[in-house]
Amino acid sequence: MAAPNIETIVSLSKRRGFVYPSSDIYGGLGSAWDYGPMGIELYNNVKQAWWRWMVYERDDIEGLDSSIILNRLVWKHSGHEDTFNDWLADCRKCQSRVRADHHFVRVSQTDEGRPVFMTTDVKCPSCGASDWTAPRAFNTMLKTRLGAAAEEDPNALVYLRPETAQGIFINFLNVLTTSRRKLPFGIAQMGKSFRNEVTPGNFIFRTREFEQMEMEYFVRPGDDERAHQEWIDACHQWFTTLGVSADNLRLYEQPKEELAHYAKRTVDIQYRFFPEREDREKQWDELMGIANRTDFDLRTHSKKPEDAEGKRLNPDSTEDLSYFDEATKERFYPYVIEPAAGVNRTVLALLMDAYSEKINDKGEKRVILKLHPSMAPIKAAILPLAKNKPEIVGMARAIKRSLQPVLRAVYDDTGGIGKLYARQDEIGTPFCVTVDHQSLEDEAVTVRDRDTWEQERVKVAELPEHLQKRLAS
Ligand code: GAP
Repeated sequence: MAAPNIETIVSLSKRRGFVYPSSDIYGGLGSAWDYGPMGIELYNNVKQAWWRWMVYERDDIEGLDSSIILNRLVWKHSGHEDTFNDWLADCRKCQSRVRADHHFVRVSQTDEGRPVFMTTDVKCPSCGASDWTAPRAFNTMLKTRLGAAAEEDPNALVYLRPETAQGIFINFLNVLTTSRRKLPFGIAQMGKSFRNEVTPGNFIFRTREFEQMEMEYFVRPGDDERAHQEWIDACHQWFTTLGVSADNLRLYEQPKEELAHYAKRTVDIQYRFFPEREDREKQWDELMGIANRTDFDLRTHSKKPEDAEGKRLNPDSTEDLSYFDEATKERFYPYVIEPAAGVNRTVLALLMDAYSEKINDKGEKRVILKLHPSMAPIKAAILPLAKNKPEIVGMARAIKRSLQPVLRAVYDDTGGIGKLYARQDEIGTPFCVTVDHQSLEDEAVTVRDRDTWEQERVKVAELPEHLQKRLAS
């Protein structure tokens, strides 16, 4: 089956309670989305899987949850106040505004990290002219104010964080000291980030409020390239364990002129988010970035670092974030490898990847969401064949209650069995458990498989173990 486009997923999401347009009853709010009963389960499954993989299953990573609003000086010294920009250009003929990095080729960048674009002969998508203003910077950090006298007080200006990473760097010494870590080790954090995107869109792909899953892995300079490659391979592998098809994933090596000011090398894991686009290259976009950030961050936040070239002197910080190696008696700034993924884009990739259609024996089209069982919002739906028969309803409800402690189960009697199956297929429930008249006699139920629609009879007493085994396999 051809891959679905995002519009198909938007419609399924609204119909089945994954994602709704936000503030809909007031006309909506551009590119803001709310996660419904099914969406939040999938969303939480992604976060839990990432945390389990990143923190629990390793011995070298600690967790953290830092504030969303940090001291403004963090963003001054991280470079975000100066360089966290989108570059915009206007068509002189029709005044349409475009994002320079989407419409022009980036040919180089200056030493201060200013990109240089080639605009000659690039046509305006609205009027066809090719007469552009010089691209100019628009800082995409969202501003707000703290305190009662906020409006008048120029010092009250603060930002909603545009990445969770900086909260990790400023806590490097805290975590290092309290957890008695030695290099190499990492700090993981998940949480909301905010960017005043100029061109948000494509459903939950690019929004102004989104959630990141980031990990900063601190290594000795010299060990960075090997560690970087290991994380690239591990992250690619992780998405396939969530059920994403390897055919829809690829690695993209960022060319030098695209690299962020702090990066030595960055590789993106891209997903085929836009299969309908004719230009095959434009079908792919970023799901996760894995950057070698060098020692830029720890150095830049350090009090008067002893930089031989006298660069990045920080008069505002009160700490030196260097690391002392007891074994070699050396002091240095660790290099940082950063796998950074978006929860929302992962949810979108999972929905797109799982979408499939099948024709039933009546010739009707059915949508089946073939989510990996670990990602499915509901693992088993318990359905009574006759909802007017109290013994059957009672038995179905009791089975639901008995399963609840071991897996997410629901009871549903709001339609005929065909409709109930179709509804569960569409939200990706791996198993439907049907209680019928015979169940009252033989203490057994029918277990229906979402992907094959095959059914088998299972004893009620064996049901929890049976389902758990099949979910795990
Ligand atoms: N600390 C590095 C960093 O923030 P990034 O590539 O800008 O790197 C990491 O962001 C991930 O966050 C992206 O790969 C993407 O999945 C997600 N992301 C970034 N901007 C987003 C947006 N406006 N909407 C949804 N997700 C976004």
